[in-house]
Amino acid sequence: MDEQVDLLERAMAEASQVVAWRRHLHRHPELSFQEIETAQFVAEILGTLEGVEVSRPTPTSVLGRLRGDLPGPCLGLRADMDALPVTEETGLPFASERPGVMHACGHDGHTAMLLGAAKLLAEMRHLLHGEVRFIFQHAEELSPGGAQELVGLHLLDDVDFFVGQHLWAPLEAGKVGIAAGPVTAAPDSFTITVTGRGGHAAQPHLTIDPIPVVAEIVLALQQIVSRNIDPLRPVVLSVTQIHAGTADNVLPNEATIVGTVRTQDVSVQKLVAELMERTVQGIAHAHGADARVDYEKGYLPVVNDPATTQRVRTAVANLLGENAVTQTEPSMVGEDFSAYQQVAPGCFFWLGSRNEANGIVFPHHHPRFDIEEGALPLGAAALAAIALEFLAG
Ligand code: NI
Repeated sequence: MDEQVDLLERAMAEASQVVAWRRHLHRHPELSFQEIETAQFVAEILGTLEGVEVSRPTPTSVLGRLRGDLPGPCLGLRADMDALPVTEETGLPFASERPGVMHACGHDGHTAMLLGAAKLLAEMRHLLHGEVRFIFQHAEELSPGGAQELVGLHLLDDVDFFVGQHLWAPLEAGKVGIAAGPVTAAPDSFTITVTGRGGHAAQPHLTIDPIPVVAEIVLALQQIVSRNIDPLRPVVLSVTQIHAGTADNVLPNEATIVGTVRTQDVSVQKLVAELMERTVQGIAHAHGADARVDYEKGYLPVVNDPATTQRVRTAVANLLGENAVTQTEPSMVGEDFSAYQQVAPGCFFWLGSRNEANGIVFPHHHPRFDIEEGALPLGAAALAAIALEFLAG
């Protein structure tokens, strides 16, 4: 217990440094697969930490290895580093200096917190039975994602557990949301193209009008969710674009629908894709039109391993108190942390970053998104406490 209090105190002493790192990154955001300066910044700081071996698996990612004095397992701690194509409207003194690019998801904070944890752990490596692998990952926001690329390089095959955290705007700063089982969804996308036969709008009987066909498809797709899927298995099916036509007196040849499907279970994901194909083909066939469904799978859902999650929960509750830990509901957002969970069991959890009193209430990816910086030392301490828990020997 004394050591845990000590860890929190140490993290508090590093708070201004972690905040300064976050603000530097916030001011200089870089898009997915373009995190050149960000990766350089991270590699330089890691390089100053005694005992941390730094490598650069790809041009915009950084790995740090901290081997404890005693043998034991390997724990991978992951932060993502990329920003979004959003124009910042926060008016913060350290707002983005790059027009059209913004850290609007909190990845600046993730990077700063993992650097903070690395600093804390480097000073305590005599206590570590095993290795901490610090994974500073590029391109979480852009499919196919940086996680899959790093996994594909086989540099993480020897990692025994993966842990990642995400700042979370729906959750009050000071709270940590941890849950076993499904955490995020598979963010799939689809494009449906219906081809009919265009012609004069005054002579519909001489055409195959694709517009009523896609209208029927949009409505019928919702029946997949409401009539074909177990209501206890979450599914979102949203049509987000419809394109057809060029004039008020011309029936077009073709109409297109674009949208997203979110599922938390691979069997449901497969079923939705199959039913979509059947529904679309059936409706198109009924009207004599042709249809094509292009279904693109996104990241796999993040599903937390129960035993790993229990250990993460224990470490965080010992550090911040039982009251700080809450059980969050699964979210339908996508996250490529799931790629690591194909290698070894993992836990992905949410760090509260909301502060209504300070107006920090905007959702992720919003131009006015911000985080309560008071959460940053807590997150750094949480990662360090988790490492001490997994590598206690
Ligand atoms: Ni994010």
